[in-house]
Amino acid sequence: MLKNIILMGPPGAGKGTQAKRLVTKFDLIHISTGDMFREAIKENTPLGALASSYINKGDLVPDDVTIGIVKERLAKEDCKNGFLLDGFPRTIAQAEALSKIGLEINRPIDVVINIDCDKNELIRRISGRRVCKNCGAPYHVDTMKPKTEGVCDICGGPLYQRKDDNKEALEVRLQHYVNETRPLLEYYEKQGLLKNFDGSQGSDKLFDELSLLILNK
Ligand code: AP5
Ligand code: MG
Repeated sequence: MLKNIILMGPPGAGKGTQAKRLVTKFDLIHISTGDMFREAIKENTPLGALASSYINKGDLVPDDVTIGIVKERLAKEDCKNGFLLDGFPRTIAQAEALSKIGLEINRPIDVVINIDCDKNELIRRISGRRVCKNCGAPYHVDTMKPKTEGVCDICGGPLYQRKDDNKEALEVRLQHYVNETRPLLEYYEKQGLLKNFDGSQGSDKLFDELSLLILNK
């Protein structure tokens, strides 16, 4: 089984949706830098104050801050049986730092999963997304509705719309993806780690394809 995994893709491609199911099925630690920043914002920590000034506009949080929190998280004992990085790395500097960390703690990356999706569909998904305030589970007002409106199926928490899920911030996020993150695909392709998947297909079908990859079948 592949156990040290990077999940990449533009905003709205379905990283969080797939990550939540995969970590449950394969007992992996889910490391989402976006979720970690949102948690810090909710808790009003100094990290949260710094992160919100970038996230709300759709900008990337500076590399040194982001690398620092991932390094600390990956070194924890519970990551030894496998982890899934969701939304990290997003720049070449982050990717280089990650390979250095992987060597230091002997947890090298086994595979990089890229979920791609066209821009119109990304806009549709992001503008209709609702997220659980407690557990972060993603929903969609038209295509992934919860059983009870405004309530999370998994934990019963209230659903809300992320502050960066608006037209202006999304344009900025997409630009950062194109300029800073997409070049990582070539970086990992050269290392023979990249596997591409169609994110516009149904969520269940994509989940089955990713599960087969992780099982190394
Ligand atoms: P982050 O939280 O990582 O956001 P993102 O990359 O913009 O991606 P999203 O979470 O918006 O989309 P997703 O791919 O997870 O899609 P989801 O599954 O929810 O980062 C937020 C911010 O934090 C960044 O902008 C930056 O400021 C900062 N940050 C984070 N990491 C950083 C880093 N490494 N460096 C610097 N800054 C960093 O699905 C979206 C919607 O589509 C949902 O409504 C869902 O229900 C629906 N959906 C999902 N799959 C399907 C499907 N197959 N078919 C139909 N609908 C679907
Ligand atoms: Mg996400």
